[in-house]
Amino acid sequence: MTQSPTILVFDSGLGGLTVYREIAAARPDASFVYAADDAAFPYGGWTEPALSERVVSVIGGLIGQYEPDLVVIACNTASTLVLAELRRRFSIAFVGTVPAIKPACAVSRSRLVSVLGTEATVAREYTRTLIRDYGEGCAVTLVGARRLAPLAEAHLRGQPVDPRIVAEEIAPCFVEHRGQRTDTIVLACTHFPLLLDALGAARPWPVTFIDPAEAIARRVIDLIGPVAPDAAPGGAQIHFTSGAAPSAALAQSLADFGLQPMPESADSALL
Ligand code: DGL
Repeated sequence: MTQSPTILVFDSGLGGLTVYREIAAARPDASFVYAADDAAFPYGGWTEPALSERVVSVIGGLIGQYEPDLVVIACNTASTLVLAELRRRFSIAFVGTVPAIKPACAVSRSRLVSVLGTEATVAREYTRTLIRDYGEGCAVTLVGARRLAPLAEAHLRGQPVDPRIVAEEIAPCFVEHRGQRTDTIVLACTHFPLLLDALGAARPWPVTFIDPAEAIARRVIDLIGPVAPDAAPGGAQIHFTSGAAPSAALAQSLADFGLQPMPESADSALL
């Protein structure tokens, strides 16, 4: 691996920033391209064949354009569907983001775990297989939330988060059974950690929210190695498939994550 690799971090929108920030903290010398397929957001409502085709084609374009050393699919909705296909099609390394069911079931004391994702992620065969393989006898409740990812996007664009929507969306995660209560919730959509304060305020009782971002950063380091002690800082840019220029509020949020919009981010080949 080159001393300062180019890492492409990809999501349907801005949720992957929660993964990007952990990887950037671990490899501050890398050159990052954060690509948001905002022209197709949200992925949660796409049919599987259409989304599969879309992601393979957009990733192919991005690989051609940026020639990354590693691609991180910072999206559960995409990873649970197309990760295997991407690895078949392209020879570079991919790191995916899939529901953190194994660590959640390993730490739950009440044995009641919920998985909060997009409607698509919780319906995937991939997710059901994770529960079968790693559920460790826990009762796992799958909860598909349609409104949370758009809410997180709006939040980064400066809009207030409506606590009632958050409370309604997460309510089915909280299960009481035979004197036990859900104690662990997997955040199976990379947008949801952007709403962590609102999620914490809306929970009817204390639970642990599992965010896989740090584990994904560790996996990246396993593949490309740690930062060299004398390495110079890298850079980070963002690519929107819509080519839309970010509003002032969004530009501020992106700057808080250390990202600068690319002037030439519109690329008709990717649309
Ligand atoms: N951030 C994405 C995920 O991790 C999905 C959001 C969406 O496009 O619906 O699943």
